Amino acid sequence: MSNMQQAPSANAYRDTWCGDLDASRSGSAARVSGWVHRRRDHGGLIFIDLRDRSGLVQLVFHPDTSGPAFAAAERLRSEHVVSAFGDVVDREPGNVNPNLPTGAIELAITQMDVLAESETPPFAIDEDSPVDENTRLKYRALDLRREGMQQTMALRHRIVKTMRDVLDRQDFLEVETPILTRSTPEGARDFLVPSRLQQGAWYALPQSPQLFKQLLMMGGYERYFQIARCFRDEDLRGFRQPEFTQLDIEMSFVEEEDVIAVMEDVMSAVFAAADFPVPATPWPRMSYADAMLKYGNDKPDTRFELHISDVSDLLLGSDFKVFESVITGGGVVRAFNAGPREFSRSELEGLNEVVRIHGAKATAPIVVGGDAGWVGNLAKFFSREQIDGVNAALAAQDGDLLLFVADKEPVAAAALSALRLEIAERFELIPDDVHHPLWIVDWPMFEPTDSGFTAIHHPFTAPSGSFDDVAALGSRAYDLVLDGTEIGGGSIRIHTPEVQQQVFDVLGLDAAEAEARFGFLLDALRYGAPPHGGIAMGIDRIVAILAGKESIRDVIAFPKTASGGDPLTGAPAPVDAGQLRELGVKSIAPPPAA
Ligand code: AMO
Repeated sequence: MSNMQQAPSANAYRDTWCGDLDASRSGSAARVSGWVHRRRDHGGLIFIDLRDRSGLVQLVFHPDTSGPAFAAAERLRSEHVVSAFGDVVDREPGNVNPNLPTGAIELAITQMDVLAESETPPFAIDEDSPVDENTRLKYRALDLRREGMQQTMALRHRIVKTMRDVLDRQDFLEVETPILTRSTPEGARDFLVPSRLQQGAWYALPQSPQLFKQLLMMGGYERYFQIARCFRDEDLRGFRQPEFTQLDIEMSFVEEEDVIAVMEDVMSAVFAAADFPVPATPWPRMSYADAMLKYGNDKPDTRFELHISDVSDLLLGSDFKVFESVITGGGVVRAFNAGPREFSRSELEGLNEVVRIHGAKATAPIVVGGDAGWVGNLAKFFSREQIDGVNAALAAQDGDLLLFVADKEPVAAAALSALRLEIAERFELIPDDVHHPLWIVDWPMFEPTDSGFTAIHHPFTAPSGSFDDVAALGSRAYDLVLDGTEIGGGSIRIHTPEVQQQVFDVLGLDAAEAEARFGFLLDALRYGAPPHGGIAMGIDRIVAILAGKESIRDVIAFPKTASGGDPLTGAPAPVDAGQLRELGVKSIAPPPAA
């Protein structure tokens, strides 16, 4: 049997899936429909591998027994669409193909209709050879026919169905929320849609359904979920798209543990459905502070070690001006032990490039060993006690390479995080058969900016601690990280109007402004809001990791390129002047180059 659960309903085109035909059907007649995958002419016979979503079956055309279908088969080319009828026959033992589920039989064709012809495709559908991505996206209908894409889209379906099934069993209701709405502050720019009926006013596409799901809790729905499309106008990379899909969840009368437990149930089922091995729940947790110190970022890949240590205190007072001026200037010196690695001068220079991207000037490489404890000319700047102290802190052995970065704390963290990944990738230290889900907890609420504060998650996250020291306020947020990628995030929310206004105040939104922008939320909070919390999971990212893809573009049927364009439809595209006039909109941008 193929991966299909049911035979198609018999009609004029077919009565079986191609991939379902096997020796148990020998001696019976069958009608199949699909695309010509491959054609071979052999000793007067014509063989066609016919493909539908279920798989392939071999059709054989014989000049004596296939009638007019034989001549028609001579004209078949790759990707022509046919419906063919014939007898299922056992192949000669020497011709059995054990690699194909239908490889024990073939269909001896007596009648065939050519339903559509195909021009020569711009790339081969019958092999998984690499094709330029722009070409794949431009001819997406052809790309989607390829086996790899079909498997990925089927996996995506299975993952989303698993999510729905687990949540349905736990009394969650799926509710849709608006696409044409007002801005939700998730930290990106909004996509705007002009209103024809209220000219000069604009809808924003939702960056997430955040406020609506909170309103559903105030509406008494208790347990909500949605497979929600979100829109964010931000710079795109492999794991970001301007429109993407979340599994969005909200629950009433809950604390952190309740949301985390539901999500561990959902994600365990998802991992099981994809045969993706992860440790049993509960999954480990790490504080934000620990993640930033030991891994240099808030989504650590814990599948390999190379832990970062802060060695500022150990090295304070050395003769090495570079470190000393950073430490006394309020910065940090951090380092990790890369292990016994051989690097040429130019390779070490390459490591400097890695840290410069993150704003650091350079990395100081030091090899452990020799009489001084460190080999090379940096050793003379440090006391023996300092060297021994650092070697002990980094568990350094003779021959190990220690990589240091001295800078302001966030720069040193980001630079060492990138170096850690670079070393792990270069020396293949990341196991691919082990996977690490990890909760990041104990987040700060705010982050200082040049002019005040910004919320690290969104401004509806419940704070923990006292507003007397805003910079030290924690938040009741949690993120789920998988193998170094943030796959989800959520929090317990604010459920009183007073605390919500306190947070708005810190963000510089006074009562009048808050009322103007979020009056609908503040109103609902005034009429009895239950304590509530939730989470949103990035479905595209989850599918990409489970399918082993580098980019989420490979798990979305019709994605955008890195510049936000769609080579298939040509979107975004200019519109005619009349359409703009009707909307009361005038473009000041020059028309885009064709
Ligand atoms: P957050 O902004 O953390 O939270 O988003 C949740 C998850 O969505 C995924 N994600 C993306 N995936 C693809 N492309 C993007 N541009 C993109 N941006 C985010 C990530 C992320 O972890 N309303 C809150 C959730 C909540 O508090 O319940 C929210 O949207 O996997």
